[in-house]
Amino acid sequence: MGKYNFDEIVDRRGTTCLKYDFAMKRKGRDDLLPMWVADMDFKLPEEILDEFRKRVDHGIFGYSDPLDDYYEALNGWFSSQHGFTVKPEWVSILPGVVMALATCVNAFTKPGDHCLITQPVYYPFREVIENNDRKLVNSQLDYTDGRYTVNYEDFEKKIVENDVKLFILCNPHNPVGRVWSKEELEKMLDICLKHNVIVIDDEVHADFVYPGFKATSVMTLDEKYAKNVIVCTSPSKTFNVAGLQPANIIIRNKEMHDEFEVQKGRVGYSNAPIMAMLACKACYTHGAEWVKELNAYINENMKYFREFVKENFPKATFVEPEGTYLIWVDFSAYGFSDEELEHIMVEEAHLWLDSGKIFGPATAQFERFNIACPKSTVVKCLDQLKEALDNHKKW
Ligand SMILES: Cc1ncc(COP(=O)(O)O)c(C=O)c1O
Repeated sequence: MGKYNFDEIVDRRGTTCLKYDFAMKRKGRDDLLPMWVADMDFKLPEEILDEFRKRVDHGIFGYSDPLDDYYEALNGWFSSQHGFTVKPEWVSILPGVVMALATCVNAFTKPGDHCLITQPVYYPFREVIENNDRKLVNSQLDYTDGRYTVNYEDFEKKIVENDVKLFILCNPHNPVGRVWSKEELEKMLDICLKHNVIVIDDEVHADFVYPGFKATSVMTLDEKYAKNVIVCTSPSKTFNVAGLQPANIIIRNKEMHDEFEVQKGRVGYSNAPIMAMLACKACYTHGAEWVKELNAYINENMKYFREFVKENFPKATFVEPEGTYLIWVDFSAYGFSDEELEHIMVEEAHLWLDSGKIFGPATAQFERFNIACPKSTVVKCLDQLKEALDNHKKW
């Protein structure tokens, strides 16, 4: 029994909660169990909440900017958890990682330039490219025997053929749950270095790994990558503080750092958000034990999920995750049409999931489940799905 109670159900309805309060508006029913967006149902521990309370009690929330203790908190976390440190002059604060991705696209490429992603991947990667009038290039991950790998030949070919300028890397990878090894990262980064491709390395899922795995930050690899790699970090997933929009973007190349700041200036962004900075400081200073227990709890949810799928959904493929709290399941062997699969999930199982089609056109027969919730919620989700699939067969 750990120090923290992850079994507690916290009612999030009526809190302007994207995950719980918008089912009617977005899916047309209000009885759906939400297992979609990467947002956890756990309350932060008291030692972190106390820091928020102190700040609220102070009562003044004017413009703010980071002091030395902010960078000390970042370094405390990154050195103890991920084996690297950062210099204050490398760090740029932005309201969220997706905004940082868009800022990079605008700072380092021109309209009409080609930018690369590896689908299936977190769909805002595609959006920040297309919404800024850049051309999307996809090097589809290989999917063999339920496991995803990079197709390096295709990856390099796509870069050369399209004169790709920028690659957005998901490390660890949402939704397929791969924790890229040092060797895999180096292969991708070396190809990018060889062809002068800037790499935006999104490490927001780095704190969630299953036993036996360790996320490799690009910050721990050879110094040569400092030239063309930008590392995006945030406590937003780890501590579920995305609503406060914290993000620390690490850019060691001074020229690129300056260009990034110029782009921030173009959209009128200057001072760092006070509660986002507070979240970084409080979580990174007081959160290590909580995250350790949280990972152990999510691992139990994952194991329950895996066994349940094996026993009850023999035609589904549970893609074994190495990291992230997201579960990626392949339902293609059932032979449902894409519309039928969506109907089963929403209208029959009463689940709100992220359909695989949002992560790329090739994965419409997949569903992504968020298991960062009390186990009872995972049990409920799977029971509802079992009932729906069992009854569906009887049609
Ligand atoms: C890979 C990845 N990057 C970024 C984000 C969101 O980051 P932010 O909320 O800081 O914009 C998510 C959220 O799920 C994600 O999965």
